[in-house]
Amino acid sequence: MATTIGSVDSASHRYMVQAVGVGDPSCATMVNDGVYLDRDARTVRYLPRESWSEPKRPQIRPSEAMSLEGRVTLAALDASLVSEFRVKLPLLLDASGDDGVRADFLQQFGKRVEAALGAIGMIAESVRVCNVAVNPPGTRSTGKDFVTHEYVGLHIDNHDRLPLASRRTAIQLMTLNCGRSTRYFHFIDLPVEELAKILHSPLDDPQEDRATACDALKNKFLESYPDYPVTRVALPPGSLYVTTPQDIIHDGAGGDVDADVAFLMLGRYRMS
Ligand SMILES: [Fe+2]
Repeated sequence: MATTIGSVDSASHRYMVQAVGVGDPSCATMVNDGVYLDRDARTVRYLPRESWSEPKRPQIRPSEAMSLEGRVTLAALDASLVSEFRVKLPLLLDASGDDGVRADFLQQFGKRVEAALGAIGMIAESVRVCNVAVNPPGTRSTGKDFVTHEYVGLHIDNHDRLPLASRRTAIQLMTLNCGRSTRYFHFIDLPVEELAKILHSPLDDPQEDRATACDALKNKFLESYPDYPVTRVALPPGSLYVTTPQDIIHDGAGGDVDADVAFLMLGRYRMS
């Protein structure tokens, strides 16, 4: 199994972590020494090894945060907003509840998150979807296959089935931790275009389904470079990240005691 990362070290466009309106992003960031194949899974599921340590690479400090493209951007919102969301959780999770009422609440909450983001200089435009995701305590993966309902481990999203060469400009996702525990965002800091370059894979093959192509790219990279570090960002309650999940291998994980609760908002984000 190949473990050299010589060519990866020359990668030119890594995703970096930056913070808006909160402290040094290095404090929230850890790295490990790679991934393992989860033998309990029925599909090919890679998870990060639990060998976290402080990163050697510098992260982008708040005063330098400008572009949200090619970055994982951290921010924090008022704790009372998140508490209000938690109060409404029974309504959101009631399977026999009214879908219209649930959708209205999520949309209204999204408007309030937009306003709170605006107050820290981040503008949300073209918001497409507001949703809630809940996972049991101790979850080691939050990405789900919507057909099998299984956690997929590290993956690349495919909402728009975009060509691999266009992934960098894909719609972004804001995920706000509305639970009581710290949750984690895990990612490989190389964009899809860079993965394809490293693996000598075509950036787009019109013969192939793009979701399948992306999944194959992810599996090939993690199989070829299992020791490539995963970056972990810690998100205490009320913290959020914005990134482009159709452009990077990523996943989430929750705390061990409380359920993992996240509010998600797909849209276009920029700094004012
Ligand atoms: Fe995802």
